[in-house]
Amino acid sequence: MIREAFRRQYGTDQNARVFRAPGRVNLIGEHTDYNLGFVLPVALDLACYVAAAPSHDGRVHVYSEQKHESRDWLAAASGDLSPVHNWSDYPAGVARELARAAYCIDPQSLLIHSTVPEGSGLSSSAALEVSCALALLGDQKIQPLRLAELCRAAEGRFVGTPCGIMDQFVSVFAREHSALLIDCRSLEGQPVTLPDNIEILAVNSMVKHALGQSAYKQRTEECAAAVESFRHADPAVSSLRDVTVALLEKVSPSMPHMIARRARHVVTENERVTLFVNAAGRCDIERMGELMVESHVSLQHDYEVSCEELDFLVDTAIGIDGVLGARMTGGGFGGCTVNLLHKGAGSRFRNEITAEYRDRFNITPQIVECHPAGGAAELKNSERSPDPAALSR
Ligand code: GLA
Repeated sequence: MIREAFRRQYGTDQNARVFRAPGRVNLIGEHTDYNLGFVLPVALDLACYVAAAPSHDGRVHVYSEQKHESRDWLAAASGDLSPVHNWSDYPAGVARELARAAYCIDPQSLLIHSTVPEGSGLSSSAALEVSCALALLGDQKIQPLRLAELCRAAEGRFVGTPCGIMDQFVSVFAREHSALLIDCRSLEGQPVTLPDNIEILAVNSMVKHALGQSAYKQRTEECAAAVESFRHADPAVSSLRDVTVALLEKVSPSMPHMIARRARHVVTENERVTLFVNAAGRCDIERMGELMVESHVSLQHDYEVSCEELDFLVDTAIGIDGVLGARMTGGGFGGCTVNLLHKGAGSRFRNEITAEYRDRFNITPQIVECHPAGGAAELKNSERSPDPAALSR
């Protein structure tokens, strides 16, 4: 139990409270969130757990079970923290954003244990931010949307990754047994029931190319440049969300080719999200699969955020019996693919994709079953926290 790990670390018998925030897999709608478009993630039962109890030295202590590292600071000075460029910037950044938003950061000790694989594109950072935010807030009330926004601000302003709202939003708002359609402009989420004759599996390529970080920022800049071009043609355009396929076709021939391709990805991807949700509504699982493959091709060629390993996993997956569709998920340049399968096709898929990937790259991929889980919350005493075996060193 995480509470036992807490006692081991902090040597106190005090009853620690435990908070959980899930990671996610995005079914479709990639690189659309910061363009104020649509996304359709599913929260996972992989999650970050934080045990917390008051400390008596005026300081906030954070300890990571994975890293075996800690950091501490004066609780009253939480608003003045600066980044030190490691994992602890996530909890520290959240503390700073909460303090600056006039929430009270009390002296306390936090023990962090995450089951979301880091760097896998399954949103380990949002799970860390949201679970730490809940722990740091304790009994203070916060609007769920404010919670998601402050966690995103911690990642953008403190850690320095200019991400969209998808990961933090779904970690807060997810509903069990459903995907979540998020309108990233109105910031509304709508649960989407998925057909029950499917399985969703994520395949972790186990690679993370360094290029990803700089490319993400570059894509946000390229999208901003595209918006400028569209605005000349139609002053009502304030984000790529406002661009229709008709406007795209009219304006893009006069734009630099690369910028036009970036825009084409975002505009068509927003359409694919809507088509995917409609297909899910009529249980057209073949169409859902096709749209995922179209999304991947667009990310690969127009948005250029895929990589050799992800392309191989997608190409291999769609040749396996029972697979309806596959695509890269998350920011790209490594991490996971998400695969839509006929129910019951999972074990064959697992074996084949593992063998093929090993053959080609000499790497064993990690396969994650994706069962839509609920959003972040405090765990009741009776609820299960991660396996003690996973927590013992
Ligand atoms: C990362 C970001 C998200 C989103 C995806 C791409 O996961 O954190 O906000 O932009 O990339 O869809």
